[in-house]
Amino acid sequence: MASAVQTVSDVTIEEMMADPYPVFDRVRDIGSAVWLDCAAIHLVTRFDDIMTVERNHAVFASTNPKSLMNKVMGHSLMRKDDEAHRNERMAVEPSFRPGIVKTEWRPVFEEIADDLIDAFADRGEADLFDSFAAPMASRALSALLGFEGVAWQDLARWSQALMDGVGNYHADPEIDARAREASEGIDAAIEAVLGKHRAERNATILSSMAHAEHPHSIDQIRANIKVIVGGGLNEPRDSILTTVLGLLQNDDQRRQAEANPKLFAKAFEEAVRWVSPIGMYPRRVACDTTLGDTVLKEGDQLGICVGAANRDPSRFDGANDFDINRPKVQHLGFGAGPHFCAGTWVARQMVGEVAVPKLFRRLPGLVLKGDPPPVERGWVFRGPVSLPVRWTVGG
Ligand code: HEM
Repeated sequence: MASAVQTVSDVTIEEMMADPYPVFDRVRDIGSAVWLDCAAIHLVTRFDDIMTVERNHAVFASTNPKSLMNKVMGHSLMRKDDEAHRNERMAVEPSFRPGIVKTEWRPVFEEIADDLIDAFADRGEADLFDSFAAPMASRALSALLGFEGVAWQDLARWSQALMDGVGNYHADPEIDARAREASEGIDAAIEAVLGKHRAERNATILSSMAHAEHPHSIDQIRANIKVIVGGGLNEPRDSILTTVLGLLQNDDQRRQAEANPKLFAKAFEEAVRWVSPIGMYPRRVACDTTLGDTVLKEGDQLGICVGAANRDPSRFDGANDFDINRPKVQHLGFGAGPHFCAGTWVARQMVGEVAVPKLFRRLPGLVLKGDPPPVERGWVFRGPVSLPVRWTVGG
């Protein structure tokens, strides 16, 4: 029989930021939904329970009147359900189709990756966070959106400021001010090019929105562009770093991938499972219900921990290990259901087919620089905070 929600109250946010996996394991053993005091949310950590949530949007909704995301970015497709969601989702899809990603976007990603590597290849060492992963993700996103003349550092700053604003539950005025500045910057960047994208059809996201079957108001365009700026930059950045890290820490797998470059795509997919760049996203309980062994009430806020489900031992053998040879089974790194990541094919192409294989090809003898190993942080979003490496020059 289902029972009331249990509480975990002896965990701090700092512990979650440093290493959420022991807490995920503990919570997974306790119940289907467990209240985590320090985060003031019910964590859902089991793979099968998350699949139940994602199959039942009438009960587990994305629409959320209390959402800080709506305040910071406007009411975007991520906080809508059913037809309202579908219409806006359909509007962005032309830019994300696998065929378009391959023919239109892959050459753009290759040019950006080569340009970045050209700038440091003869140095023999670099921190791949600043010199490669962050500018790669930011410049690629700017091109995808259809922005022009926006510096990659500005887009990266805006993205971070929006995400900080969405997490600003303690209403810090400085965080609010930075999120507002980011929002205004993005509105101006849209304004500068929207006329052009309205006038011509092209592969960019702004053009897809401007020519949508269900016409969008300027507020809808702004909110959905902001959601993509917030959610389309840190994840490719972090997954580039995690894929490289996984391969550099597992020499046999790295050698396999170098001998058979098709395996870099598998390495990317495994990295997204192993350390999911989005570890948790929210849902709201729309009516009294039970989830697995737990009774929930209307209005309960759920934290859908895909980072935990992707290490659920009932689903993955040796779940804590990076293993590009594991049998192919669905993971939840890109979510599931109607809100399944719109940028999945972009990320697969950018990271698994272009960025990571190019790094290994162009930087011979790539190894991690120094000891101790790189630090990863975060639980809502997670990835390496730096990745110092060295390689052989002119050998
Ligand atoms: C490795 C890279 C990425 C990962 C792991 C990732 C992960 C996710 C996840 C877990 C969700 C579901 C969130 C929810 O249901 O609340 C999501 C949604 C979304 N992602 Fe990604 N993402 C990545 C890259 C991208 C990129 C590059 C873009 C765009 C350029 C993008 C655009 C979106 C959009 C628009 C949604 C919302 C879809 C909807 O609500 O219908 N993502 N992503």
